[in-house]
Amino acid sequence: MPPLTGSKPASDARTLVPPGRRLCEVTENRAAGGYRIFSALDESGPEPRAGQFYMLAAADGWGQRTGRPYLPRAFSVAEATPADGGLRLHFLVEAVGPGTERLAGLRAGEGLWVTGPLGRPFSVPGDLASGVTGAILVGGGIGLAPLAILRRQLGERGVPLRTLVGFRDREHSGGVDELFSCCEVRLASEDGHAGHRGYVTDLLAVLLEGDDAPTAVVYACGPPAMLEVVRALCSERGVTAELAMETPMACGFGACFGCAVPLAAGGYMRLCSDGPVVNAADIETALVAGSGHRACGR
Ligand SMILES: Cc1cc2nc3c(=O)[nH]c(=O)nc-3n(C[C@H](O)[C@H](O)[C@H](O)COP(=O)(O)OP(=O)(O)OC[C@H]3O[C@@H](n4cnc5c(N)ncnc54)[C@H](O)[C@@H]3O)c2cc1C
Ligand code: FES
Repeated sequence: MPPLTGSKPASDARTLVPPGRRLCEVTENRAAGGYRIFSALDESGPEPRAGQFYMLAAADGWGQRTGRPYLPRAFSVAEATPADGGLRLHFLVEAVGPGTERLAGLRAGEGLWVTGPLGRPFSVPGDLASGVTGAILVGGGIGLAPLAILRRQLGERGVPLRTLVGFRDREHSGGVDELFSCCEVRLASEDGHAGHRGYVTDLLAVLLEGDDAPTAVVYACGPPAMLEVVRALCSERGVTAELAMETPMACGFGACFGCAVPLAAGGYMRLCSDGPVVNAADIETALVAGSGHRACGR
């Protein structure tokens, strides 16, 4: 295998993870359409940047009877809000297997082991390309989680934003009302239950035809097929894009090499430490083997 090499990020102002895992108390767990949002009080961790993630494991009922889930699971932080005694971290979860099912079933008062924030965050538009004045956020399914905190953090910098969100169907949708209540979101759904009937990338293609497209940066998170269309559309039009990708992650901090993603220039990056946010120009394709959510055997 060629040597692992890191991509050259445009900006790498990541928040560094404190050593060790921290025990946090779950404060809330509520339905959000077909997904759930759970929150936990982090008493000593730093504020995360949008695009960073945490490795999460329930304090109880984790790998005890069946051995699964055993390792912690990677989760993008959807929002982080100041609270009495620390920072409240919010996560959007889709149950696809034993780990996500356990996390989706957490109750207020339970313990949650948290390691993070980890990984490279989204860059600010001005660090990605000169002359950029706005941003287009594109989320697919559960991938809208990191775009919620990104939207707030870019909004606080006064960046003009447009947000596009797509879902497969009603069952695989949720989180917009809870995480984007502040702002206008253009929706697409494959089954036509909300917004444009079709793909969220149809909406992006229209926006990228506009005169102001060259002054925008695209930030996307969603299933690999969606990210690949975003990558190709932006590449064809010379628009800078950052993609928050997923691969299975065992450790989350660069030790196991299980999250390798091929680079366009040859070699590989470790998605957990060189990503999960990657510059779309650094990769040949977002269709990376093993990536994407699929419900499977328990
Ligand atoms: C950086 C990052 C951020 C993530 N953020 C979120 C989030 O905000 N909300 C959320 O619900 N999920 C998120 N995920 C995905 C989540 O970590 C996986 O769905 C979870 O690990 C699956 O564990 P499980 O035990 O429930 O199911 P498993 O039985 O372990 O897996 C179920 C299915 O999902 C596939 N899978 C497992 N892990 C991943 C992965 N990391 N990427 C793609 N496919 C995977 C498996 O191949 C299998 O088909 C994120 C993953 C990464 C890498
Ligand atoms: S998950 Fe272990 S190196 Fe990336």
